Amino acid sequence: MIDNSTAQVQDQPVLNRLDFGKDFDWGVATAAYQIEGAHDTADKGASIWDVFTGKRGKVKQNHHGKIACDFFNRYPDDLMLMQEMAIPNFRFSLSWSRLMPTGTGKISQQGIDYYNRLIDHCLELGITPWVTLYHWDLPHELEKRGGWPNRDIVSWFGEYTAFCANTFGDRVNNWMVLNEPMVFTGAGYFLGVHAPGRRGFGSFIPAVHHTALCQAEGGRILKSILPHAEVGTTISCSHIEPIRQREKDIKAAHRVDALLNRLFLEPALGLGYPLDDLKFMRRIEKYMKPDDEALLQFDFDFIGIQNYTREVVKYSFWTPFLQANLVPPKKRNVPYTLMNWEVYPEGIYHLLHKYSQYKNIKKMIVTENGAAFPDELKDGQINDEQRLDFLQRYLQQVLRAKQEGANVQGYFVWSFLDNFEWAEGYDPRFGLVHVDYETQQRTIKDSGIWYRDFLMYRSK
Ligand code: GAL
Repeated sequence: MIDNSTAQVQDQPVLNRLDFGKDFDWGVATAAYQIEGAHDTADKGASIWDVFTGKRGKVKQNHHGKIACDFFNRYPDDLMLMQEMAIPNFRFSLSWSRLMPTGTGKISQQGIDYYNRLIDHCLELGITPWVTLYHWDLPHELEKRGGWPNRDIVSWFGEYTAFCANTFGDRVNNWMVLNEPMVFTGAGYFLGVHAPGRRGFGSFIPAVHHTALCQAEGGRILKSILPHAEVGTTISCSHIEPIRQREKDIKAAHRVDALLNRLFLEPALGLGYPLDDLKFMRRIEKYMKPDDEALLQFDFDFIGIQNYTREVVKYSFWTPFLQANLVPPKKRNVPYTLMNWEVYPEGIYHLLHKYSQYKNIKKMIVTENGAAFPDELKDGQINDEQRLDFLQRYLQQVLRAKQEGANVQGYFVWSFLDNFEWAEGYDPRFGLVHVDYETQQRTIKDSGIWYRDFLMYRSK
């Protein structure tokens, strides 16, 4: 073990794992398309990300996930490393098109075998698997049939969910239905900057509604097949503030909060869509059938909180619909990461309190938090001080919220390995472990060494 004091960020109190409680779940998070590679192994079908990355100019430097971290082949070594790092919980996602090449009907035995090996290997090493059903890689065949904007997806997703629960549920107890629905519908079906690259309200609004229906339907199916499982789903969220205490900015911040932080959560909690605060979303009612209000609800065992930054909002007459702009951190003279996201640890504290106020949220798990900074591999070491500082400061705020009563019960670092960062390609590195993409060599960064020591430290 390294001396904790050397890795301790100055002016920060020393963090002790035990202060979070004995039952607090610690882990790392990943997603299939970002790490697995093996894009055309055996009878795997193409996903929308395979297709999107094949189009020139969609992803920085035309990077793609064909090989990525080659986790599909290297998982035994990577899990060994995870065990050496004393990480007790591993969040990963299942690739729908690896298991069901065309999204429905036909099943791939090789896909099943791979996830069986991965899950069994985790369990043999004493690592608990936490499985996300959908982390953005829709089977391309389903996109051809209309994708998320087609209401049939509720039954396609139901079939996939039931299949996963029946196949892996004897060993997997922790499930997350969706990863960040706001991001994949917004970036994929409104802005067109993520797969499948569709733009505009015509695809976005129905995609939102069907995604929200699948969120609840997925929960119901998992629970009906696996009554003892812990069933959650994850949401992206950012603490929002107006640039000034001026009515127009305050109202603009309120709209952005409704869109980014409440749109998918509130219908699940039985509160409906926040349409009073998002008038332009009212056209969603056109897609709603009489029973939908009830079908949008599900009593999740936990909500996965995924937070990276804060957003500061300014009223904008010229921005259609939302009439609000995000003021970038560069213009505010505050620290930010390689993703241009502000480093604002208090944000996670405010969010945990904010969500604690919803009485239907039983418990929260931080299912993603982390940062990309330029890392330099020097003499076999990566001295990633900024990431270390980021993680310690954010954790300090998670602890503060918890000590004040927020019901947060777990924390997962994004990410275990450097990986394919969607439209940004491989440049932003989020890992606790560095990946050399030429050689596939893994090197634990100083932040990873710190996390290991923090997790190993068991007594006061
Ligand atoms: C989240 C997403 C992850 C990862 C992370 C860092 O939105 O779930 O897949 O990319 O952001 O950007």
